[in-house]
Amino acid sequence: MVQILPSILSADFARLGEDIAKVERGGATMLHVDVMDGHFVPNLTLGPPVVKSVRQITSLTLDVHLMITDPDTFAPIFIEAGADQVSVHYEAARHLDRTVRHIQSMGARAGVVLNPATPVSVLEDILYAVDYVLIMSVNPGFGGQKFIPNALNKIRKLDQIRREQRLGFAIEIDGGVNHDNLTEIVQAGCDWMVAGSHVFGSADPAATVKEMQQIAELATAAKV
Ligand code: DX5
Ligand code: ZN
Repeated sequence: MVQILPSILSADFARLGEDIAKVERGGATMLHVDVMDGHFVPNLTLGPPVVKSVRQITSLTLDVHLMITDPDTFAPIFIEAGADQVSVHYEAARHLDRTVRHIQSMGARAGVVLNPATPVSVLEDILYAVDYVLIMSVNPGFGGQKFIPNALNKIRKLDQIRREQRLGFAIEIDGGVNHDNLTEIVQAGCDWMVAGSHVFGSADPAATVKEMQQIAELATAAKV
């Protein structure tokens, strides 16, 4: 089923528990956690202790997006801290197959992320092994950026491959998702839509998540 994943990057970190409770009230079932190391991307965010604390206050699925140069070292640490699923950038992973299998061997779902300039074709020999693919619709590093429409073509390509090869991976999108582009994103074949500033920057994050979830479900119904 299609899901809206609020990204805590745009939450108030001094009131993180309260902000998470708001999106839970709005019906979110998954939470997106952006980890940045100041090397792979020009920004720093949070580490395993925050994931561990968040794990203690919510049962939502924790979707951890690693924007770091050394995913092999840190993916296991985030799983131990409570991540249910971890995605690593194709551009950062040196031994992607090994990394994906290691994440899965620890009982977590493994995702691979593509930057805007990286084509879908590079995933040809790993798609059968991954649980999800995350398409960046902005250059990673900051919330609140403008959606790059070419991401839609990449989602369509992935969805086509998924159908042709009868694969089961989910497709996720991250960056610049809002009310206006949501229908088109779902109709392109996307399952999980990350939304940060549009949710936590709104006056009522619970209502925003609920509305976006409804729009996404309507778009799915219209697709079939
Ligand atoms: C960028 C992040 C963001 C974020 C979503 O590195 O991954 O894409 O979570 O932020 P918004 O929804 O504000 O673009
Ligand atoms: Zn992200």
